[in-house]
Amino acid sequence: MKVAIIGPGALGCLLAASLTIKLDQSRDVNPALDLWLLDYKPERARYLKENGLILEEGNQKKTCRINATVDPQEIGPADIIILCVKSPQVAAGLQLAAKLVQEDTLLVTLQNGIGHLALLKNRQKLPPIVLGVTAQGANMVAPGHVCHAGDGLTRIGFLKSASFTRSLLLAKVCNLLNYGGIETVIVDNILDYLWSKLLINTGINALTAIHRCPNGRLLESADTKEKLSAAVREGEAVARALGIELADDPLAITLDVCRKTAQNLSSMLQDVNRKRPTEIDAINGEIAAAGRRLGIPTPVNDALIKKVKEIEQAY
Ligand code: PAF
Repeated sequence: MKVAIIGPGALGCLLAASLTIKLDQSRDVNPALDLWLLDYKPERARYLKENGLILEEGNQKKTCRINATVDPQEIGPADIIILCVKSPQVAAGLQLAAKLVQEDTLLVTLQNGIGHLALLKNRQKLPPIVLGVTAQGANMVAPGHVCHAGDGLTRIGFLKSASFTRSLLLAKVCNLLNYGGIETVIVDNILDYLWSKLLINTGINALTAIHRCPNGRLLESADTKEKLSAAVREGEAVARALGIELADDPLAITLDVCRKTAQNLSSMLQDVNRKRPTEIDAINGEIAAAGRRLGIPTPVNDALIKKVKEIEQAY
């Protein structure tokens, strides 16, 4: 089975290393896995090809060889494509994905926010799309060196009901990820889960990027806790108006994630620290835009967007 992971960031490297290491250990029971990392930076792809990946878990470090390239033709048609780029790079990632498609390819997208949904709708030449939401925690220590900061469930599912053949393919993806140690379940309401994660990111990411603090610190000041709560409540109002079914109280979940990931630097703060474009448009930006369409005010999200954009402009 040929699997192409697009984007050797933290999540891409975590998946590539976990799948390679764990499936290699159970080679007898699993079909051969032909796994590739597709990058857009030639120097990094060369580095990964020569040096492989390091997966750090607790005080253990494991290494593995990896096929890495910038040339989709070197990979050829893939059975499964996993798009792990961040939201601002989705359009470029989809162009690469289109070059790997064959008749039964499945494309799995794993992004924060919901900015990629509009892009996926408008694309030609794309295979059936599986949306994913993951609670895996990972961060890059150096190129190709990923630290697995915490396990969490990954949910995958089609946006619309799918044919029997496609459902079988989806089950294949799910099995592959589980064999590779990434606990995964198939859900039939993936959009609800995307929104549920979106609301967590709405409350945490921008505020941590603005205040340059780990997630837990947001709960230590009345001001940041109030802003976090208001941003999530605005998002919740928008979600409910759109008919999204939120299983639990999004604010309670966000506060809980904040406590459980107290020491984490959010992905947006990491972007700001490295002077990279953030996912503000795909997270708070989507809440504010939907709010405008629905006539639901989102003043706290608007203010967070403005501040994060100012930070980006000052890079
Ligand atoms: O984007 C992130 O950093 C993560 O989704 C989360 C849950 C906020 C933890 O840091």
